[in-house]
Amino acid sequence: MNPIHPSFRCVVPKSFLAAATALLLPGAVQAAGVTIHFAGDSDVGEGGRWTKALAQEWAQKTGNTVDYISRPNDATQTLQMFQQYWAAKSGDVDVYMIDVIWPGIAAPHAVDLKKYFKENEIKENFPRIIENNTVKGKLVSIPFFTDAGVLYYRTDLLEKYGYKEPPKTWEELAEMAKKIQDGERKEGKGDFQGFVFQGKASESVTCNAIEWIYSYGGGTIIDPNGKVTINNPNAIKALDQAKSWVGTISPKGVVSYGEEEARNVWQAGNAAFMRNWPYAYALGQDPKSPISGKFAATILPKGGTDGKNAACLGGWNLMVSAYSKNPDVAADLVRYLSSPEAQKKRAVDLSQLPTRPSVYTDPDVLAKNPWFKNAVDILNNAIARPSTVTGANYNQVSTAFFQSVNQVLSGTKPSQQAVSEVERAAKRALR
Ligand code: GLC
Repeated sequence: MNPIHPSFRCVVPKSFLAAATALLLPGAVQAAGVTIHFAGDSDVGEGGRWTKALAQEWAQKTGNTVDYISRPNDATQTLQMFQQYWAAKSGDVDVYMIDVIWPGIAAPHAVDLKKYFKENEIKENFPRIIENNTVKGKLVSIPFFTDAGVLYYRTDLLEKYGYKEPPKTWEELAEMAKKIQDGERKEGKGDFQGFVFQGKASESVTCNAIEWIYSYGGGTIIDPNGKVTINNPNAIKALDQAKSWVGTISPKGVVSYGEEEARNVWQAGNAAFMRNWPYAYALGQDPKSPISGKFAATILPKGGTDGKNAACLGGWNLMVSAYSKNPDVAADLVRYLSSPEAQKKRAVDLSQLPTRPSVYTDPDVLAKNPWFKNAVDILNNAIARPSTVTGANYNQVSTAFFQSVNQVLSGTKPSQQAVSEVERAAKRALR
């Protein structure tokens, strides 16, 4: 027996119900019935599917609709796609998920989110990310999740080959990787690799190479005061070291690996070590994963015993387009996606790092990601790419850098030539 006659149910318009529900929900203050076009996460890991589902949850709660626009996995290609929308002042995308290195590029095309978020709400995030996202007083984007490069290692294999601890230096890593690779190959695993990372000519290798170079004391291409520092012996040493891995402890194909290519080798159980972002943790520990329970994550090695640990600072933020026809509703979606609850869920489901310090002490988050205990420390010391100092010209510098580094890894350019070419490009970009 149905207590409500079906014909009566039809009398209440759906949009009215949605608007009424919206009124009852904190944060859901916008009019219903609007379509928000959202260029969200890519298909790296589960990020895309997860973000789309969360956006649809918001749509359902508020009576709006989300049109989810997919984008390439590659950050550099994504920027090219977004720049086309921005150049055309297109209203076809309302909300963009933007990389932590793009505020200077995106600023002219963004709504100032200070209009929608109160000072105390903004302050709930790591101040460093807010500073990064603020360009000439404009809050270009709201933090969504943060990232830092980490070293993954196979605990079972380290034990098997007599190692008690993960490597402290890159030299140690190369030695251990070689021993494990030789041993595993002898046992019939012909494809086994010592170390996989991201060598692709794109933003991916920019992050990896910044870590190598900084760890050897070679700086971050340009220092925060705008001095171009890349042409130095430590940077050359770091690049030579990385080149020596290709074809020995790393596959030759690593020069075209992005994040997912590296993770595929690793998660199939075919690598002893991997450099990647935190997202690979939850995927690797999934009960269905062949390496579940067999690995751990830690800080990346130092460049030599007097070197430094370096994790590249990554992360993604949410921006409302200045050309959006519905900026108020778009900002409401941003609020929903970046809330403490959403960040907690993202940390638990995807092992991605919250931008709110408060979420790091949540027992559910720690139970799922025990290594998050050290994450705040890693983040506080994470190395930023020179995007603030280069602003709108960051991509020029990074492109010169990643092309040259990729050529060094491929053996087509000596490191000395690479750093002097990047030096010239960086100086041009700063003019
Ligand atoms: C990750 C980082 C991002 C970086 C990208 C490079 O997505 O969060 O900041 O630019 O990797 O591939």
